[in-house]
Amino acid sequence: MKIDVVSIFPEYLAGLKLSLIGKAVEQGLLDLNVHDLRDFTFDRHNTVDDSPYGGGAGMVMKAEPWALAFEHILGEGTGGTSGEGTGGTSGEGTGGTSGDVEKPILIVPSPAGPVFNQRIAEDLSGAEHLVFACGRYEGIDQRVIDWSAERFDLRLMSIGDYVLNGGEVASMVMIEAVSRLIPGVIGNPESLTEESHEDGLLEYPIYTKPARWRDRDVPEILLSGNHGAIARWRRDRRLERTAAVRPDLLAELHDLDKHDRAVVE
Ligand code: ADE
Repeated sequence: MKIDVVSIFPEYLAGLKLSLIGKAVEQGLLDLNVHDLRDFTFDRHNTVDDSPYGGGAGMVMKAEPWALAFEHILGEGTGGTSGEGTGGTSGEGTGGTSGDVEKPILIVPSPAGPVFNQRIAEDLSGAEHLVFACGRYEGIDQRVIDWSAERFDLRLMSIGDYVLNGGEVASMVMIEAVSRLIPGVIGNPESLTEESHEDGLLEYPIYTKPARWRDRDVPEILLSGNHGAIARWRRDRRLERTAAVRPDLLAELHDLDKHDRAVVE
């Protein structure tokens, strides 16, 4: 999978070089590129914002740097001022004009989008090319958002009902949630199957050695070696936890059997 991120704070994204995502990049499972929006400006101050038409508080991100950055990523335009070359026919982009080529998905993090979740992460993990546009200030000039919809599969996406200062942290959240689902990124794929949100239930509590710690014992059943009983115990804990903390998730599950219902009632 190829992921491009555009931001005025590219250093923010440096955390993605660590841990499993960094390893996936090293292994070539993920081609991750972070672009500085200011590389696509041409004035002395590398201006990326201006005051809003119609008045109001704050500043708005100008359309042209975004368009140039997107064209560079698509290998279409004349690129920016970065030392990376002028884009054009470099063959880097996955765009092109052929009708049978999947359009890259452009994700614009915004509290005005639908809320990101595990289903969306799964859907995005099958994409070939994701582009994240990290806006700052009051947001990005709507015209370049509309313009980008002709080139990309455009998705505004929120990570929750609160307001962040910009799209960087939201992009990192989504990139981490998506890239860990790419085959090979997580060493043991079984660890993906019993996680919170994977099947609509929250995960069960887990324990490790010692069996007794500060007068607290590991639940006995986990020491029993009875795999069937352990699986049932774990499912019961997942049901209880979900019912207590996220009854909204439970209400969406339609495959609960009699035993499951007895646990949550
Ligand atoms: N930008 C600001 N707030 C955000 C949120 N909640 N989700 C995604 N992007 C944002």
